[in-house]
Amino acid sequence: MVSTPTATAYQSGLDFLSSPFTSEAANRSMLPLTARQNALDHLEVGGCDVVELVKSYGSPLYILDEVTLRKACQQYRQAFASHYPGESLVIYASKAWNCLGVCAIVASEGLGIDVVSGGELFTALEAGFEPDVIYFHGNNKSREEIDLALSSDVTLVVDNWQELETIASISATVTQPVSILLRMTPGIECHTHEYIQTGHLDSKFGFDPTQLEALLRFFEKTPHLQCIGLHAHIGSQIFELQPHRDLPDVMVQWLVMAAQQGLPVKVLDIGGGLGIRYTASDDPPTIEDWVSVVCQAVTAACDRHGLPLPKLIAEPGRSLIGTACVTAYTVGSQKTVPDIRTYVTVDGGMSDNPRPITYQSDYCALVANRLSAPCNKTVTIAGKHCESGDVLIRDISLPAMDSGDILVVMGTGAYNYSMASNYNRIPRPAAVVVREGSADLILERETYHDLVQHDRLPPRLKRGS
Ligand code: LLP
Repeated sequence: MVSTPTATAYQSGLDFLSSPFTSEAANRSMLPLTARQNALDHLEVGGCDVVELVKSYGSPLYILDEVTLRKACQQYRQAFASHYPGESLVIYASKAWNCLGVCAIVASEGLGIDVVSGGELFTALEAGFEPDVIYFHGNNKSREEIDLALSSDVTLVVDNWQELETIASISATVTQPVSILLRMTPGIECHTHEYIQTGHLDSKFGFDPTQLEALLRFFEKTPHLQCIGLHAHIGSQIFELQPHRDLPDVMVQWLVMAAQQGLPVKVLDIGGGLGIRYTASDDPPTIEDWVSVVCQAVTAACDRHGLPLPKLIAEPGRSLIGTACVTAYTVGSQKTVPDIRTYVTVDGGMSDNPRPITYQSDYCALVANRLSAPCNKTVTIAGKHCESGDVLIRDISLPAMDSGDILVVMGTGAYNYSMASNYNRIPRPAAVVVREGSADLILERETYHDLVQHDRLPPRLKRGS
């Protein structure tokens, strides 16, 4: 569930630093697993002092902890191996953060990948994902994107009739059958921000289940298209387990229908959606809890209907990468509105993290260069964009800050860089991946030259012409 802003001051997150991490504490944390307080009273992530990282790479800076990302990949894979007796595959929903460095780490952990555009597909291929673990989603794939998907031999997750007919006609001459998953809307509503609910029937995504019979009949006439399975995704940042328990019930009934029509489909893709902890009051289930619930639900439903177990695919995004990253900002100006609030402004904002302004999402932060300073001021963290709503965190309790302090916002791995913009022509930040005391750049900071490189100035508009 996306929590709404409240007047209550949030806990700073320091509680999680004061004791050594146990795996349980780490699961509950908003910080990467390797976060610790060093002898200088600075925040360290992946063995790197965050204050030093900002000196070297500037700010804002996305700091991705490799250990946390790898650990989450391993947790998903191990949980499926222990809870699902059939074949399974975890694919990373790369819309959460798609770039070469992130894709390469995830690929090396043996996960597949979900892409939703030609750009994400191209990046996944460049990063080394094998085509047989790439699943191409999207509710309006262009001809160019479909061509790229077909020539790369990836699985297409088809969203609507028009797309299915286009793929059928483009691929009529291909030699290899094209693997298709059908995206269905399961009619399951869940408790999250309405913009990130997708499983309800009034959604732009997927086929209405009443279409399933007609869809399966369509495949009887198109042997070059192979409908290997069915897909559904109910939404994102979900804390309740019940909708995830209900989804397999609904989907297995579709499998029954397909089997009755003589077109057995062997893959069930249950989407993603597990939420993460952004603030102290968030209480998401663990990866293990989520996986065990969906596996039990699929197994029980198949048993009830006497069906063999399908290959089970899950598509987590946020819960793989959200907590693995923090964003470091440098504090700039401050403004106190007497008896109302103090605004502390940082050198980024809605262009590097558009989630607060888009979904009223809450975040926690700490002052990375003075971790033990008492949190005795309630402030509002504002961004530097020309937009009143450009506020990253409202009413957070933090130490008094000065210009030059380093503020770290936690849980910025998912849907931050991937939704970043150049609003106000602000260059997008750099990102580093940290591990065992070393940092490697995975995204270079954009420059002003980058900002104008695709601008074109027709000669007649040049000054003096
Ligand atoms: N599969 C499909 C088909 C999806 O549409 C999504 C997310 C996922 C998997 C991964 O969901 P996750 O495990 O990350 O919850 N920009 C929003 C989130 C949009 C989610 C879109 N689809 C935000 O910042 O909260």
